[in-house]
Amino acid sequence: MLSFLSRIPSLHPESKSLTVWEALLVFVTLYNCFVIPFRMAFHAIIFDFWFLIDCLADFILIADIFLRFHVGYIDEGEVIKDKQKISYYYRNTDFKSNILASLPIDILIYLFLPNTSLILISLARIPRFLRFPQCFLIFRKWDNNVYFNSAVIRMIELLIIVFLIDHWIACLWFFIGNITGQSGKSWLQINDLYLENTTTQYLHSLYWSITTLTTVGYGDITPKNNIELIFTFTVMFLGVSLYAFIIGNVAAIISNLDASKNRFRDKLGQVQSYMWERKIPRSLQKNVLDYYQYMWEYNRDISLDFELLDELPHSIKTQIYCYLYQELLEKVPIFQDAEPCFIEDLVIKLKPRILPPNDYVIREEQIGHEMYFVKRGQLQAFSEKTGKVYTVMVAGSFFGEIALLYDSRRTASVKTLTYCELFVLYKEDFNKVLENYPQFSEKVKEIAEKRYQVRD
Ligand code: CMP
Repeated sequence: MLSFLSRIPSLHPESKSLTVWEALLVFVTLYNCFVIPFRMAFHAIIFDFWFLIDCLADFILIADIFLRFHVGYIDEGEVIKDKQKISYYYRNTDFKSNILASLPIDILIYLFLPNTSLILISLARIPRFLRFPQCFLIFRKWDNNVYFNSAVIRMIELLIIVFLIDHWIACLWFFIGNITGQSGKSWLQINDLYLENTTTQYLHSLYWSITTLTTVGYGDITPKNNIELIFTFTVMFLGVSLYAFIIGNVAAIISNLDASKNRFRDKLGQVQSYMWERKIPRSLQKNVLDYYQYMWEYNRDISLDFELLDELPHSIKTQIYCYLYQELLEKVPIFQDAEPCFIEDLVIKLKPRILPPNDYVIREEQIGHEMYFVKRGQLQAFSEKTGKVYTVMVAGSFFGEIALLYDSRRTASVKTLTYCELFVLYKEDFNKVLENYPQFSEKVKEIAEKRYQVRD
């Protein structure tokens, strides 16, 4: 039997089909966790066709036992799919508890002893709860999957835990009320709920459970005998720790939701306290804060791009840069119709720089070490000596090439007129690009010569 099973092709432990199957397993387990206590406490069924649904749920759990034999496992980053997996499954997974959790004793009782009470049938289903901890293992696995949003997974997990605890306590509260009510006072009798229908009874129980767990306690449904009293303060104690757990988790999820924003705020906080300690003039502080505001609105944290991307393999990094710099590549005329390998070679060398208005990027007569491409904003090239403005540059322009091409001093000053986003190409990278791509070199030289002449 086992050798037959091992011949069937194996599933990758992170495949999409396995994820769908795991979602189904979670659903079936939660169905059992909801329905079994409900039936036992309220002696009632939720759907008319409950028996069919139970059979289907059990079928899924049994099928899962067999399917697990065909799921590979990851060992030191490698997916192991061979026959060892069977022994691995025996040793390392919940094989035995899965078998116990799937035994369809209740179905057999229902079929062969049709007069058995619903409570007894439900009791026989209790081993299904053994599957419950596995839901959290599945959630952990999804949480570690880079394709899933970890905040969403954690939030769903938290909601499930909270709802199920509320539900179980509601069922227990009704069950206690029912038992104690038969011999004396009970919350059910005092609130005239004995004769009500199951929906009203359940809703009242759930209402009590939620108000007591949250320690809101409106006091309209109160314990009426000693057992109910003991149960009530046990639930209150549980409620305090449960909600401390919920609040802690929700706070952690929310603070992780926008990690980049938090990182940026931390940085801004450091800058602000630095300026405050060093007693930097208010007007200068305002400039700094304006700069960070612009950075946040348009670029988020550009330094992060480099930190995060640096460890990626060259080819993936190039593709990401091509995507990030797409706007620039589309705007700069000399990049259009360029060969893809030229673009790929260039993007990896460009470094972003953001400058505030009225900032000098280049000073006339200085030695040049880099050239610039304009992604956003306006700059002017002008002579500081004569005050003559040569040109106003916008997105798609480039400048600073003359000093690099002719190994000369800067022929003009360049100043920002607005906030500007530039990309810098350093001299040694510029020389390499010129060497390897003569077409680009021709175009740049042509433009540089025209500019040089206009200057005179
Ligand atoms: P560079 O001389 O390295 O530094 C100043 C830059 O201003 C220069 O390169 C050109 O890119 C740019 N520049 C100089 N003169 C003009 C002009 N007449 N028109 C446009 N840009 C110019």
